[in-house]
Amino acid sequence: MLGSLTPQPADKILQLMELYRADPRAQKVDLGVGVYRDAEGVTPVMRAVREAERRLVDEQTTKAYTGLAGDPAFAEAMAGLILADAAPRDRLAAAATPGGTGAIRQGLEMIRMASPEARVWLSAPTWPNHPSIIRYLGIPMAEYRYFDDDTRAVDFAGMMADLEGVAPGDVVLLHGCCHNPTGANLTLPEWEAVAALLLRKGAIAFVDIAYQGFGDGLQQDAAGTRLLAARLPEMLIAASCSKNFGIYRERTGALFALAPDRATRDLAQGTLAFLNRQNYSFPPDHGARVVTMVLNDPELRADWAAELEDVRLSMLGLREALAHELRARTGSDRFGFIAQHRGMFSRLGASPEQVLAMRETAGIYMVGDSRFNVAGLNARTVPILAEAIVAAGV
Ligand code: LMR
Repeated sequence: MLGSLTPQPADKILQLMELYRADPRAQKVDLGVGVYRDAEGVTPVMRAVREAERRLVDEQTTKAYTGLAGDPAFAEAMAGLILADAAPRDRLAAAATPGGTGAIRQGLEMIRMASPEARVWLSAPTWPNHPSIIRYLGIPMAEYRYFDDDTRAVDFAGMMADLEGVAPGDVVLLHGCCHNPTGANLTLPEWEAVAALLLRKGAIAFVDIAYQGFGDGLQQDAAGTRLLAARLPEMLIAASCSKNFGIYRERTGALFALAPDRATRDLAQGTLAFLNRQNYSFPPDHGARVVTMVLNDPELRADWAAELEDVRLSMLGLREALAHELRARTGSDRFGFIAQHRGMFSRLGASPEQVLAMRETAGIYMVGDSRFNVAGLNARTVPILAEAIVAAGV
């Protein structure tokens, strides 16, 4: 049986992680996978997370199963963080999932169960695991223009023109903030226009929000998602706690389904619990419990938000420093977009050959489409990257 398996395509981001690990050069720079690193190159456990874990170890009296959809307190805390009061809770179904990817997967399965003919529209480009999972599930897929390679900004006219092709019941996958891989994001008036289009088309929004707090701030980064939730009768939200709580390996995420009415919400809630049971039974609890504790304890929450803000500002500082180094080296402002982009990533606009040249000559690892992880940089490596970009002729 096993011999009849065929090799599966490797995930480009994870493949790059392996290549980096195997590179013996001491001066190599990892700008691949989206993991935050501080100035010393460490991915720290956040202070509030460490404290919540300590309390959990001291106070937890049982590790018996939670509910199939996870602990309702986690769903409520996450709904508050993402949606604030944008959507009434009696229309909101929710389930804890193993990370943001688990939420995407469960959401797509629910879409396939509810309307197998619906197409899922993806931004071009998007996080490569989106099309990979959609293809794996056999769900029809379409693309909308998103990024203008010349201006390195959102091609909003192209996006709206392509979304005119959306049929009633189709699903449009949107990055809530900090677009991965480009770093180019919608403005609030653009979110308004997208909401109006989806409403007019009778289409469903599916928001992937994995970097809340990494762009313009915790509230600002959720503004687009909140706007859609306030306007649309139905939407899905896949949320990740990997990045903003720094708990990558705990696999903590949540899927929300906003339904037009209470009865439909109950149907969706039952489906989410069913899907959890079919795929892995109970979702992981440790990370979810830590997040709940951090969000519900005023002191821990304030400390977490302050540390997250430091992380955000350090990334912004790195963006500005890199744009500055490139301005000094090229005498032009053509890399100014790096300081305009938000979140962990920017797409540089280098060719695959230039990306390879930077890897071979300078030991700089970025994804083949020239996405680089800003949070992988530090004060020492910013000039090294700027030098390599210029040397590669980008
Ligand atoms: C990334 O895009 O690098 C992150 O979302 C990590 C991952 O799983 O790919």
